[in-house]
Amino acid sequence: MDKYYLTTPIYYVNARPHVGHVYTTVAADVLARWERFLGKEVFFLTGADEHGSKVAAAADQAGLSPGELVDQTVGRYLDLWKLLEIKFDRFIRTTETEHQKTIQSIFSALQRNGDIYPGVYEGHYCVPCERYLVPAEGIDCADCGRPTEKLSEETYFFRLSRYQERIKEHFLKNPEFIQPERIRDEVTNMLSDPLPDLSLTRRCRWGVPLPKGVAGSGLTIYVWFDALLNYLSGVNYNPLSPAGADQSKSFKRFWPPDVQLVGKDIIRFHHIIWPAILMALNLPLPKKVFAHGWWLSGNEKMSKSKGNVVEPFDFCRRYGSEALRYFLLAEVPFGMDGNFTEEAFRKRYNSDLANDLGNLVHRFNHLMRTNFGGKVPPPGDGGILARKTAELFPALAPKMESLDFFGFLETLREVISAGNHYLDEESPWRKGPNSGSVLYNLTETSRILSIYLEPVLPRTAVLIRQQLGLTDLPAGKEALTWGLTKPGAIVTEAPPLFPRIK
Ligand code: MSP
Repeated sequence: MDKYYLTTPIYYVNARPHVGHVYTTVAADVLARWERFLGKEVFFLTGADEHGSKVAAAADQAGLSPGELVDQTVGRYLDLWKLLEIKFDRFIRTTETEHQKTIQSIFSALQRNGDIYPGVYEGHYCVPCERYLVPAEGIDCADCGRPTEKLSEETYFFRLSRYQERIKEHFLKNPEFIQPERIRDEVTNMLSDPLPDLSLTRRCRWGVPLPKGVAGSGLTIYVWFDALLNYLSGVNYNPLSPAGADQSKSFKRFWPPDVQLVGKDIIRFHHIIWPAILMALNLPLPKKVFAHGWWLSGNEKMSKSKGNVVEPFDFCRRYGSEALRYFLLAEVPFGMDGNFTEEAFRKRYNSDLANDLGNLVHRFNHLMRTNFGGKVPPPGDGGILARKTAELFPALAPKMESLDFFGFLETLREVISAGNHYLDEESPWRKGPNSGSVLYNLTETSRILSIYLEPVLPRTAVLIRQQLGLTDLPAGKEALTWGLTKPGAIVTEAPPLFPRIK
């Protein structure tokens, strides 16, 4: 069985989750569900980035210890993932003892091979972004525009500069590593000047302590080094067995990641620093690191510090979590920015979910119950709908492969529309000679659509099949075969899947 290892960034838990965080996680969940459907053994890793000055400062502000704050906020994330039906395989927290031990062992291993050396860092640091500025940026952070802290501190450096040429080479030989294509130039340009070595420790009280015996009192490991390595400790990488004899089962099974999803704000960390660390550890690199765009609110990146975040709990309560999953992926091509407005949300909800999908299922369900004794009629000629649904897999699979969720849903919408059109044209309520097979064809089309929609709308997909009395389907791609619905299945009355929003 093929494997599929997929990750999201781990989220800072200084504040509650917002729609931006939901975006990456929903996209990952959709991919994971699709790959499971294809029969792969999937490992979907997500989690919480719990250390660093930013989290410590937020705890001070809330009058809590950092440990109390992170426990509280992680709880919020987990509640939200449950509400949104996120089926991860592991949720990692960087405060876990095992993770911390892994970080320390990796630190020591890199120190032994000369990739980590002591020195003094002089320069600026942006706490909200938890990053060191490059000298050309001056004193304000080029990413968030905020003033920074001037540092002059003893530290240990990671020899990033040593890997510059190898990273360049890797980009050339593996163009699919940087996705989407449009950001390749931006990432490659980051290598046009010499890469400075990276300061790997901070004078920060809330972080992973240096390994025993390493000098540097009061220093903790830089939060980004700690965070990036979650992708290794998440599959129980054993740094004490680099050659593999005692390597963990899940590391052997799943490494390297097949897809890593990140927002475009953190590409330098994931396309430059992360590969360099893996090269230093002699480990294979992820196959694909995909950077999606931002959700903006009021034309600015949605973020807590700007005070323009959209509250996901509130949206789920008012419109349902499935509608939020759908909107995020159907509204904007993955990789582009989008403006999140309630107006756009309601518009798409009403047109795609209430009118097109909801109506299709509701209308012929109603007809079967009122005119055909509540049972699925026997099949006849499958006609246009049988042809259209047969064309779906070859059209949809490459879209998912390239993370084109937008195109995937667009293609499904075309078939939903074709179904509604067919119902109008064939008018089975007139009880013509073909009306039974017309309804059969619509049932079969809805069943097949429900399978394709399931990664995005997991609950709705099940509801569609339930109300059509469709159970005992084969697993995986076999369920896509036309004609599996058994005539005589009992159709039950069900409330509209997506009631129209007024
Ligand atoms: N903790 C680091 C990541 C470490 S991964 C080794 C971090 N955390 S974060 O909570 O600030 O943001 C994580 C991710 O959330 C972003 O990369 C992005 O995937 C997502 N988003 C946060 N705000 C977003 C938007 N406004 N729009 C879309 N995605 C956003 O960075």
